[in-house]
Amino acid sequence: MMTPGWWAMALSEAVNDQTPLAVTFAGEELVLFRNAAGQAFALEDRCPHRRVPLALGRVVDSGLQCGYHGWVFDGATGRCTQIPNLHAGERVPARYGARAFTVSEANGFVHVWLGEGTPHSTLPSDDYQPSGREFTGATIVNMQHEQFLAAMLDGPQCLMALSHVRMTDFFLGDLRLEQGRAVLERGAVWTTQFLPSQFVVDYPLFVRTAVALQGGMTRVDLLSEDELPLITLMISTGANRRGTTSLCWRGYVHQQAPAKAPLRWRLARLRKQPLFTVNSLIDGVAIAALLEASSRELRSLRQPNLIAVSAVV
Ligand code: FES
Repeated sequence: MMTPGWWAMALSEAVNDQTPLAVTFAGEELVLFRNAAGQAFALEDRCPHRRVPLALGRVVDSGLQCGYHGWVFDGATGRCTQIPNLHAGERVPARYGARAFTVSEANGFVHVWLGEGTPHSTLPSDDYQPSGREFTGATIVNMQHEQFLAAMLDGPQCLMALSHVRMTDFFLGDLRLEQGRAVLERGAVWTTQFLPSQFVVDYPLFVRTAVALQGGMTRVDLLSEDELPLITLMISTGANRRGTTSLCWRGYVHQQAPAKAPLRWRLARLRKQPLFTVNSLIDGVAIAALLEASSRELRSLRQPNLIAVSAVV
């Protein structure tokens, strides 16, 4: 079971026309690659001949070639177009093919449609226009996907860190729906040598977390109290094998700096340091201590969208 929609499965720069990229996302095992013209494709990562992962093969002019017996599959349709050693006059049977998925690219991510038939929704549009150096990464964390999304609302400080900023446990308003995402804001404070309490009346900062109900893109923004954007981070999340979660992300630090930002934050920004970290190791003690709050609503919001996966092409 999975949620139908566009899933951002890889950073665009991780998919090339040289080496196929294996990804496991939302329970699907796929292989991503490009042709020489730069178009990205996604096939099920399993050769229909003897079930060998196609990611072990190589990219050729006409598609992806299985590394075992050399069958070649077209990226757009998945159809087998070449079988080595066919006898003269023999043709590749039309029914031979790998399962192909619809692919699109936006915001520096390769998106794959997982769901019934042709896409019935447009790519999630984000006002993501990095102005300055971007910071990217990818990892697999030892946490179930649904739990990861829940923690993103209940305690994002367990999953990521913002330099010189402390995210508090106090929400600014209730969970709300915006453009297919569950959005929540929480107060944040600058950390100083005096380690300010999170029990402050007016928060100089807030963190807005927007978890997608369909597809896998979560957006996190750090903003000043007057809504000046400071950091924007897009995190693609998807269920991997054995209860783990695939992540890839890209984000940037905005050019503005609030007047009250501490000097060390300003200096780090001027030095083009990332000022955020996505944790590759997650503290189980901290996760277990999180109170279940807004994530309860998230679960019920995501549940109606679950469908059984079937062929999409
Ligand atoms: S297993 Fe792929 S061509 Fe035989």
